[in-house]
Amino acid sequence: MRAIEITRSGGPEVLEWREVPDPRPEPGEIVIEVAASAVNRADVHQRNGHYDPPPGASPYPGLEVSGVVAEVGADVEQFRVGEEVCALLAGGGYAERVAVPWQQVMPVPQGVRLVEAAGLPEVACTVWSNVFMTARLRKGETLLVHGGASGIGTFAVQLAKALGSRVVATVGSAEKAERVLALGADETVDYHQEDFSEKVRADVILDIIGAKYLAQNVKALRPGGRLVVIGLQGGRKAELDLGMLLAKRLSVYGTTLRARPVDDKGAIVRSTVDKVWPLVSGGAVRPVVYAEVPMERAAEAHRMLDSGEHVGKILLVR
Ligand SMILES: NC(=O)c1ccc[n+]([C@@H]2O[C@H](COP(=O)([O-])OP(=O)(O)OC[C@H]3O[C@@H](n4cnc5c(N)ncnc54)[C@H](OP(=O)(O)O)[C@@H]3O)[C@@H](O)[C@H]2O)c1
Repeated sequence: MRAIEITRSGGPEVLEWREVPDPRPEPGEIVIEVAASAVNRADVHQRNGHYDPPPGASPYPGLEVSGVVAEVGADVEQFRVGEEVCALLAGGGYAERVAVPWQQVMPVPQGVRLVEAAGLPEVACTVWSNVFMTARLRKGETLLVHGGASGIGTFAVQLAKALGSRVVATVGSAEKAERVLALGADETVDYHQEDFSEKVRADVILDIIGAKYLAQNVKALRPGGRLVVIGLQGGRKAELDLGMLLAKRLSVYGTTLRARPVDDKGAIVRSTVDKVWPLVSGGAVRPVVYAEVPMERAAEAHRMLDSGEHVGKILLVR
């Protein structure tokens, strides 16, 4: 098969479409003939040499795919050859074929094109597991989403609205504010113009910035608030005012999805299919696709992500 290889650490030009060995299914795995993958910020970090794949994972980038089941390994009874699926991966999505533990495979939600489904597993599992399973956002509470126009943000805004929360999102431009409001956000804050902690009070914050926002996030949380840090775009080390944590009874969580054991991912995937897929099938939450780029031109897709012009997901299609 062919796959995108990261030939060395560097810019988008290091991504090359090359002939590589076909994956074989280990017991408990299925092989998917890939229809599409999607670009995640983590792929850019991996390309830059700052985010190695976890031990045992494919060296090729790509944390999610959609496609058709091509082979089924021993001990797999849950999926059949020919079924249309999408999957959460530890790597290897930028390829014609990929092997994945069956626990990380999901049906394509009704009413979603096979190609579009490639952009769902990472955002749906990340948002559901962090905002709802970990931070337990409840109906009527306020969620603050940083980067509302990101792949993660566009899904978080829609899901929290669909489940009855008030949603505020930070964005980098008036144009992005308009797009995020159209997805259902109640309010946006332009992070270039205003300090969100001066005007927002939230019960849960989904944070992709890390150190740079820690103090402001703690200030913006209401008593009993929960901060979930899933990205470190603004650095990893900062001072935490524990007095504020005690006084407001706050919780701070940090998680990553990629390096979790298969059973953990399986539990998240099952819960996501159970609770989130019906909302996608019913149209309350939709995939937000910015562009569909041929997979062999992954470098172009990375340039697009690097430029920050996108809203939602950039897909890599075959
Ligand atoms: N821990 C996990 O398991 C996990 C899983 C998936 C993703 N993530 C993380 O989630 C983040 C989003 O991922 P993605 O693939 O959806 O990336 P993406 O589409 O490239 O989004 C990056 C976002 O960061 C926003 N941003 C940049 N500086 C900001 C600031 N100072 N304040 C607020 N927002 C700011 C941008 O907003 P504008 O475009 O409006 O400027 C953009 O929307 C990444 O950091 C990624 O590593 C973590």
